[in-house]
Amino acid sequence: MSISPPSSDRSDVTQIVVVMVGLPARGKSLIAGKVKRYLRWTSVKAEVFNVGKYRRTDNPHPDAKFFDVNNTEGEKARKAAAEAAVADMLQWFQDKDNKVAILDATNSTKSRRKWIHDKIKEANLLHLFVESKCDDEELIMSNILEVKTSSPDYIGQDPEAAAKDFRDRIRNYEKVYQTIDESEKQLTYVKIINIGARVVINLIQDYLQSRLVYYLTNLHIKPRSIWLSRHGESEFNLEGKIGGDANLSERGERYARLLPELVKRSGLPKDAPLTIWTSTLKRTSQTAQHLQKELGWEKLQWKALDELDSGVCDGMTYQEIAEKYPEDFQARDDDKYNYRYRGGESYRDVVIRLEPIIMELERSENIIIITHQAIVRCIFAYFMEIPQEKSPWMEVPLHTLMKLTPKAYGTEVERFKADIPAVSTWRPKGSTAKHHDSVSEGMPESVVGEPSKVGIQKVTNINEKTKGEVPTIEMVGLPLP
Ligand code: SIN
Repeated sequence: MSISPPSSDRSDVTQIVVVMVGLPARGKSLIAGKVKRYLRWTSVKAEVFNVGKYRRTDNPHPDAKFFDVNNTEGEKARKAAAEAAVADMLQWFQDKDNKVAILDATNSTKSRRKWIHDKIKEANLLHLFVESKCDDEELIMSNILEVKTSSPDYIGQDPEAAAKDFRDRIRNYEKVYQTIDESEKQLTYVKIINIGARVVINLIQDYLQSRLVYYLTNLHIKPRSIWLSRHGESEFNLEGKIGGDANLSERGERYARLLPELVKRSGLPKDAPLTIWTSTLKRTSQTAQHLQKELGWEKLQWKALDELDSGVCDGMTYQEIAEKYPEDFQARDDDKYNYRYRGGESYRDVVIRLEPIIMELERSENIIIITHQAIVRCIFAYFMEIPQEKSPWMEVPLHTLMKLTPKAYGTEVERFKADIPAVSTWRPKGSTAKHHDSVSEGMPESVVGEPSKVGIQKVTNINEKTKGEVPTIEMVGLPLP
């Protein structure tokens, strides 16, 4: 058995403050949240320090006048909130395992940025200023709409009055806003104009900074969805064997034939192109073949989407592994994320090889991914912020299509189940190594980990006979605040 080192042992990762810059309603909090989620998924400890949250302690529902430059009381309170957030952030960095703090605030004047830069320098930390500059009215409007319905500043207020006040607040910030320019060329920064239409990058010095910049420049906010499915049931699944490169079973082929219908029922964007990604293994290509034929979409094969490599255990059943390698079987149960199969991979390894997939997914629009259980878990964990101790144990049933739709503050998940039985290849932590049939034993409903991170979950059951009829949609979860 070999365990890959946990991230906390990685002294190679420097400590960085990502300082957000920009007027209100420019997607700063959205970017801050995404950066935190991406870093945590790659085992880099990251935290967001939101100045608005600190300000709300004493001023929970200020109106636009509070943000007027001539309001000295307001200015004092806002500076105090920024000082409290920065103090907490610097304290957080005392733990050397903590690597990236994101200071989420407007930081919209040169003097404020200088003050922050000096604090960061004094504390021997690196910095990366990230300015979101946006004059796209549609984008700003949709952010304003989001704020008036979701910001704690406007809780319980009339939405129209909230929107008007928020616009006035923006005007007050505009009076003093200074974009990052040549005079600040000593700063390391990335300036993202109209969500990636143009990007200006200055003075990147460090590997993690450049990874962050690459991630940031891939982001877009065009509406789109990502469909995720495991391959149809395979001949290996029937025998309870892991790994290999088996063909689909007869039931797996039925799933492949029903998949185009399932995807259509899930609601396709009008005239938007869709690309199919599979692994290089036969069972995923076979599952995608009717999608490709019937819907004419382009298909790409990715080695990075191949199933977790189970090394010497490839082709064995869990029962056989438990008998031949009892210590490994136990070690995997104890720490499934870090356990690396002899001669194979761990979940941690898989996440590393999936990073280019995530970058490409962030850049892309509508993608349908047909892949394998461990890979679905890792991709799902990225979008839904599922912690490492939970993600390898998530149940991802066969013959079920998931549609993930990123929204401003979370990802909406819908599931579409083909009414075609399949074995369950899911083994809960601490259970015996036996595999079972999903129909006879009743497959549990839950496919996802953290309900709090899940938007709306809908389950739609579709079978081969009811093709073409209106599906029943069962709500199994509701968005949480
Ligand atoms: C706030 O008080 O909501 C944010 C303060 C700022 O970033 O300007």
